[in-house]
Amino acid sequence: MKLLEVKAESNISKILIGESMENLPNYLKGRKTIILTDTYVAGLYRKRFPSKVPVIEMGLGETNKTLLTLEKIYDKLIDYEADRTTFLLAIGGGIVCDVAGFVASTFMRGMPFGFVSTTLLSQVDASVGGKNGVNFQGYKNMIGVFSQPEFVLCDTGMLKTLDEKQFKAGFSEIIKAGVIKSAELFAYCENNANSALMHDSSTLIKMIYDSVEVKAKVVEADERERGERRLLNLGHTFGHAIEKLTGILHGQTVSIGMVLAAKVSEKLGLISSADTDRIRNVLLQYDLPVVPNTDIALLFNAMKKDKKREGEEIHLVLLEGIGEAVTKKIPYSQLEQLIDDLRSDFR
Ligand SMILES: NC(=O)c1ccc[n+]([C@@H]2O[C@H](COP(=O)([O-])OP(=O)(O)OC[C@H]3O[C@@H](n4cnc5c(N)ncnc54)[C@H](O)[C@@H]3O)[C@@H](O)[C@H]2O)c1
Ligand SMILES: [Zn+2]
Repeated sequence: MKLLEVKAESNISKILIGESMENLPNYLKGRKTIILTDTYVAGLYRKRFPSKVPVIEMGLGETNKTLLTLEKIYDKLIDYEADRTTFLLAIGGGIVCDVAGFVASTFMRGMPFGFVSTTLLSQVDASVGGKNGVNFQGYKNMIGVFSQPEFVLCDTGMLKTLDEKQFKAGFSEIIKAGVIKSAELFAYCENNANSALMHDSSTLIKMIYDSVEVKAKVVEADERERGERRLLNLGHTFGHAIEKLTGILHGQTVSIGMVLAAKVSEKLGLISSADTDRIRNVLLQYDLPVVPNTDIALLFNAMKKDKKREGEEIHLVLLEGIGEAVTKKIPYSQLEQLIDDLRSDFR
C-alpha cells in the first residue's frame, strides 16, 4: 500500500493506494458510519461492506447525479438519525463520490466523509481534489462545493469487476496527468500498457500514485481553480462538449479531447507533430478513441456553453511539450477558425 497526503486549505486527505477494502474498519475508527453506494456496486460488494453499517443506495448514471437524489439521501440520513459527527462513507465510482462529498458537506453544515473509490477513473481523478457536486439543467457539476474527504481508499482488486470500457477509460486520466506535468509518467504509460491492462497490481499502483501525485500538487497550489488547477482540464473543454453531443464515457471523451488539444497546440506552433503522434499512439495502446465521433463543427457551439468561458474568450489548456501544459485564453473567433482547420485532419 502506498500513502499520499493531499494538503488543502481545509484539511488533509489521505489517499490509500493499493489498500484492501477489508481494512476499512481501521479508518472508520469505530465512529457511527453511514454508507452511500449505487445499486450496481451494492449488488457486487455489499457482502464485503463493514457489517452493521446502514447503507443508502442511489441509482446509476449521470441522470441520478441531481438535486432530487440529494433530497432522497438527506431524507434517509434523517431516518438514520445522522448528525454532524456521523461519518459518511461513499463506496463507488465518481458519481457516488461526487454526490457523497456534496451531501456530507451540506448536511447539517458538514459531516466528515471518506471514499472507497471503485473505478479507475475515480481512483485517479474524481476522488482527489475536493470537487463535489451534482448536475443541474443538463450542465455537468453545476452545483457543488470544494471539500476534501478524510481518506480515499483505492483497492485495485476491485477494478477487476469493472466493465472493460470503464476500466480503459480510467487510463485516459492517468495519461492526462503525464501529459500535463510528468513526462516520466507518460513514458511509463507508453512502456507498460500490457501489464496495466492485465491488471498487474504493482503497475496499477504506480500509475495511480503518480497521477494522484500530479493532481495533488496542482490542487495544493490552487485548490479553488484560480489558475494552475485549470491545467487538469486538459482535453476536458473539448471532452465535455463531445460528451454532451454523443454521450460516450467521460474518460473516452477526454482522450479525444486531448488529441484535439494537442492538434490545436500544434497548429499554434507550440508542439511538434511528433509529440501529437506520441499522445495519439499511447491512447491507442489503451484502446481509447482518438477521433471525434461527431461533426466537429458542432463542437464549437457546444464549447461556447462551457462554464469555463469568460466573455468572448475561452480558457484552453494547451501543450508546450509532453509534461508541459499551459493555459491560454483564446478568443472564440480564433477557436472557431482552429476547429475548422482541424476538419481535414479528422476526415
Ligand atoms: N470530482 C472530481 O474532481 C471529478 C473528476 C473526474 C470525474 N468526476 C465525475 O465522476 C463521474 C464519473 O465517474 P465514474 O467513471 O467512476 O462513473 P460511475 O460512478 O458512474 O461508475 C461507472 C459505472 O461503474 C460501476 N462500478 C463502479 N465500481 C465498480 C466496480 N468496482 N466493479 C464493477 N462496476 C463498478 C458503477 O455502478 C457505474 O455503473 C462523473 O460524474 C464525473 O463528473 C469528478
Ligand atoms: Zn476528467
